[in-house]
Amino acid sequence: MSRLRVGVLISGRGSNLQALIDACADPAFPAEIVVVLSNQADAFGLTRATEAGIKTVVVDHREFEDRPTFEAAMTEMLEQHGVQLVCLAGFMRLLTEGFVGHWRDRLINIHPSLLPAFKGLDTHARALAAGVRITGCTVHYVREEMDSGPIIIQAAVPVLPDDTEDTLAARVLAAEHRIYPEALGLVGSGKTQVVAERVAIDAGAPEDFLVNPSDRHI
Ligand code: GRF
Repeated sequence: MSRLRVGVLISGRGSNLQALIDACADPAFPAEIVVVLSNQADAFGLTRATEAGIKTVVVDHREFEDRPTFEAAMTEMLEQHGVQLVCLAGFMRLLTEGFVGHWRDRLINIHPSLLPAFKGLDTHARALAAGVRITGCTVHYVREEMDSGPIIIQAAVPVLPDDTEDTLAARVLAAEHRIYPEALGLVGSGKTQVVAERVAIDAGAPEDFLVNPSDRHI
């Protein structure tokens, strides 16, 4: 079985990267991580990748005169490794139309909210301020507008009365670590297709992928 060749872009601690690494450790998983690219040389995710025996590359955005040249360098690096799908996992640079267009429908992201609610940074603080009872996380194909694009999987997470930003973030992060590998599994096995800017999932029987129907909306 040939596995989908994945490049993961990170900027920091890389806990979602770790969830993807763990999933890909199963030889039956339909994707493999062939390179981890960080724009920050001290990102802890690079250590995780190295420990897993995965090639790492640093492309420091500060060494480029503008975003397009930075992104062109990333694309070149990814293509050198034969990357077929790019996963953003806590990558903290906005991407321009050039990069997003080049990787269209081959570029996915995870965001810690139920998009389209709470795009951008400080997600959990804004969810708490809004008083929502339910938040969650989203894996989606990337479009040029920040935190937008066809949704692959979402998980709902309750907001509890005593939550702080930290406790809520931790609860959502646990859900992120479940759904990102699951979304990658769907994409890797060719079960997702973007049709009219929605994701059609060919998953056979729904129970195949509704592992935990009580907290999941697909
Ligand atoms: C996660 O909450 C992810 O949803 C967001 O950035 C955070 C990255 O965390 N895009 P980590 O580096 O994967 O631990």
